[in-house]
Order: sequence, then C-alpha cells, then structure tokens
Amino acid sequence: MCTACPAGGYLSGRAEEEPRAGQESLTVGSWRPTISEVHGLALHGQAVRSIFVFCGVKESMRVLFVGDIVGSPGRQIVRDRLADIVAQRRIDLVIANGENSASGFGITPRLAEELLRMGIDVLTGGNHSWDRKEILEFLPHEPRLLRPANFPGGNPGSGLYVGTAKNGLKYAVLNLQGRVFMTPIDDPFRKADSELARIPEDVAFVFVDMHAETTSEKIAMGWYLDGRVTVVVGTHTHVTTADEHVYPQGTAYITDVGMTGPHGGVIGMDRNGIITKFLNGLPARFDVASGDVQMNCVLIETDDEGPRNAAGRLRARSIERLRFCID
Ligand code: FE2
Repeated sequence: MCTACPAGGYLSGRAEEEPRAGQESLTVGSWRPTISEVHGLALHGQAVRSIFVFCGVKESMRVLFVGDIVGSPGRQIVRDRLADIVAQRRIDLVIANGENSASGFGITPRLAEELLRMGIDVLTGGNHSWDRKEILEFLPHEPRLLRPANFPGGNPGSGLYVGTAKNGLKYAVLNLQGRVFMTPIDDPFRKADSELARIPEDVAFVFVDMHAETTSEKIAMGWYLDGRVTVVVGTHTHVTTADEHVYPQGTAYITDVGMTGPHGGVIGMDRNGIITKFLNGLPARFDVASGDVQMNCVLIETDDEGPRNAAGRLRARSIERLRFCID
C-alpha cells in the first residue's frame, strides 16, 4: 500500500498502458489495479511517474517469458507482437523457449538468430534442442541459446547464461530438464544446486526454465528453489496451467506457460496425423498445425523495495499470465 499516495492505492513500479483494442485477448492471474483504476483518471505516463516519485516507489524489473514457440506460426506471432508488448508493458528482459521453432522439432542457427533479432534476449531449450544437427556446431558460438544444463557433460552449449538487462541489472537464466517420462539424464535438482553456485553474487535476477513432462516434477522444483531464485517456469507440455503464484520465499512459479503457435491441432501439431497415430500406432510424420495462433506468456515483476531472498537475489512481487491472439 502506498500510504503517501493521494489515492492510497497499490501502485506498481511502472505506469501501465492499456493494451490496444483487439490486441490482447486475455489477461488473467495476479490482478493488480491499473493506474487509471487507482486514481480514477487516465493519466499520462509522465504524470504517473511524478506520482511515483512523490510516493517514493522505485522502479521494478519486468520480465516477459514467451512459452514454447512452435513452427512458423509461432515465429510469426512473435514477429508481429513482441515489439509492441515490450514497449507497452515496459519489459526489461525477454526470455523464450525455442526448442520447437523449426517445424515443431528443434531450432536451426538461422531461426535462433532470427528470434534473437526480434527482441528475445535469451532462448531456452529442452528435449528437442538436439533435433537439428547443424545446431550442434552453433551452440558453443551463441551463449544466449541455451540447452538443458543437466545433459551429459561434454555436450555442446550451456544451460546457464548471465547477462545484463535493459535496466542495467544483471540476470541469469538456467535451463533444466526433467527425467520423469523423459530421457534419463542427470539429476536436475542437484544440477540446479551446482549451476546456481556458479552465478556471480552481483546477479540480481535468476530465472529457471524447468522443461519437464510431469506437473509433480515441476512443482517439486519450484519448492526446491523457492527463496534461491526469482522465477521457476515450466515448459514442454504446451498447455497453460492456472497455478501461477509466488511461493512463500519469493519465487514466482507456474507449472506450464503454454505454447506460442497454432492451437487448432494437438499441442501444436496437425490433429489428423496425431489422431491417426493414436488409432493405428504406426510411425508417422507430424506437421505443424494451423489455426487459432496464440502467444502464451507470463509477466514477472520483482519486488525491488523489499528484502532480497536467501541467496541475495530479487524476490518476485507478481506473476501474470498473458495470452495474445491473431486478430
Ligand atoms: Fe519439449
């Protein structure tokens, strides 16, 4: 509560601008009143900033995570929408999962570079990170393209990236992969311990993408890392879950962010091929689906005014699900 504010309302650290009509179809989770709701006025951003100064409210870090980008429809909606979202929501850092961006299976060097040019700061991966053989040589040359850290040592690339966000704060992104109903790779929990120990002390914001099949393994990782990282998000299953929340020690969490791509099929792939496979059990080639293209994301805002977590990192203030659709 901002007690010094004339309106006595809750204020986020940034002036919210209303999305343009038709641009955003759904905003759910962690509701906060908009500035205009608090003050009963449609205030210009500069005026709102003056009120922040009057109230002594500091800036906060705003991080957008874009759920698994599938095929050309997924890349297209990111190309069409991301720049506006970043501007309107005043995003400091954009992270996305890109392991399905090449026709649903893997990512190529060209597509990785294309997605990074669209405004994504770091790309995470998963079980499909290795699908395109040309990516093996590329991974060591692009540190912003991650693959799960708990694959065997000696594999190309890294599961950890440390960088500096637009607001000047240092951040780290850690990519892990679950083992339940997946390839039996190294323990993601102990790997998280060893990777977090490598992150420099001056890193303010630590983000974890836990790419896993089961809800239980992802929720367990959320609890395991609560108070040690700022965010844990789940990816891989491509279906948004409604369990976003902030754990008691300040770690924001959601079991699955959902998919960025066509929802007219089965988790991004053409439904006829998938149904046929369920009917006859024969090997089949799957194509990317079409129709109902959505961009599913979460927006995490940090608590810059309160105490840091036990590891000295920023605590999350809120996590909000966002869904954008093709007009
Ligand atoms: Fe996956």
